[in-house]
Amino acid sequence: MQYKRMPIEIESPESLGYDSIECNLAESSVRDVLFKDININLNDLVIAYGDHIGKPALRELIAYDHKNISADDVLLTVGAAGALFIINSSLLKKEDHLIVIRPNYATNIETPRAIGCEISFIDLYFEERYELNVDKIKAAIKANTKLISITTPHNPTGTTPGENQLHALVKLAEENSCYLLVDETYRDISFQTPPPLAATLSKNVISISSVSKAYGIPGIRLGWIITQEKSLQHLFLAAKEQIHICNSIVDEEICYQYLIKKEKYTTAIQKEIRTCFTILKNWISNHPHLEWVEPTGGVVCFPRFKKEIKIDIEKFYSVLLEVYKTYIGPGHWFEQSKRSFRLGFGWERTEAFEKGLKNIDKAIADCEG
Ligand SMILES: Cc1ncc(COP(=O)(O)O)c(C=O)c1O
Repeated sequence: MQYKRMPIEIESPESLGYDSIECNLAESSVRDVLFKDININLNDLVIAYGDHIGKPALRELIAYDHKNISADDVLLTVGAAGALFIINSSLLKKEDHLIVIRPNYATNIETPRAIGCEISFIDLYFEERYELNVDKIKAAIKANTKLISITTPHNPTGTTPGENQLHALVKLAEENSCYLLVDETYRDISFQTPPPLAATLSKNVISISSVSKAYGIPGIRLGWIITQEKSLQHLFLAAKEQIHICNSIVDEEICYQYLIKKEKYTTAIQKEIRTCFTILKNWISNHPHLEWVEPTGGVVCFPRFKKEIKIDIEKFYSVLLEVYKTYIGPGHWFEQSKRSFRLGFGWERTEAFEKGLKNIDKAIADCEG
């Protein structure tokens, strides 16, 4: 494996230092919670090794809302990032081909790249409203295609493929004896009722998710893989055991106690997201410099500078951060032009969010022409 650090991680807010940012519009999750606010009791927890697959009651809870799957189909992982690493590193060999949507959350691309796989990128275009084109994916399939990899709701654009497209991709995977990997890390922040969990649709589908984005608890590093295919579960468990045996049982217990009463927290979280989203919509509609594809899920969008706007783009990002202490995710985090950027509307509270948008306008004024 040829590991390379990814710009999105090198330049992440936590690497930069949260203290250097006043308006953090670079985050791709809801606001992180305070431990004391979620009433977790760990007093009776024995700090032993845990179940290697993952705490059974937590796996049951994760499977509970979905048809066709049970706790046995769920493998707990160290975040969705850990899930992606396990899947890619245990399924893919150098000789394999995979099809990946781009832009994408960097690990979806970088781990297959580190393995040395042949990759066909299916680029999403602003002009096509970042819509996923099943025909393009179909045309890219080869005899050695092992995996088709998509993210929905999508990071960084916030777009969501429709249920028909999902079914068409499942069919493609079945017909071509390959797997469909669906990164559903943002599924619990869909604006409308989401399609069925992808892994419930076929044994050829692998779903991954975590509690990092929708619940404000990314620090416990808890995610999961769901597949009905037993041979895959076995393979992924073997990989997990070689990497770290089991999850942290402290993380599992916190996650369990949080999820069992999640409604108590998510109502307030959803309300805040909606408020910031409305502010964002008002700001960007008819914006003189920027345009966007309106997101349909998640907490991020991917606006860009209009073609005719002349701007010193490097200066824009540095003025925005250094002068106005406001941070957004430049396009190169996603192998895209820096004239596009990821803007998160779930993390900051309303006041700081509004200030961040005003600061973007000020930085544009400072760097235009
Ligand atoms: C689409 C997507 N997948 C996976 C991850 C990894 O999330 P985590 O490992 O925190 O669960 C992220 C994080 O930004 C993401 O955006």
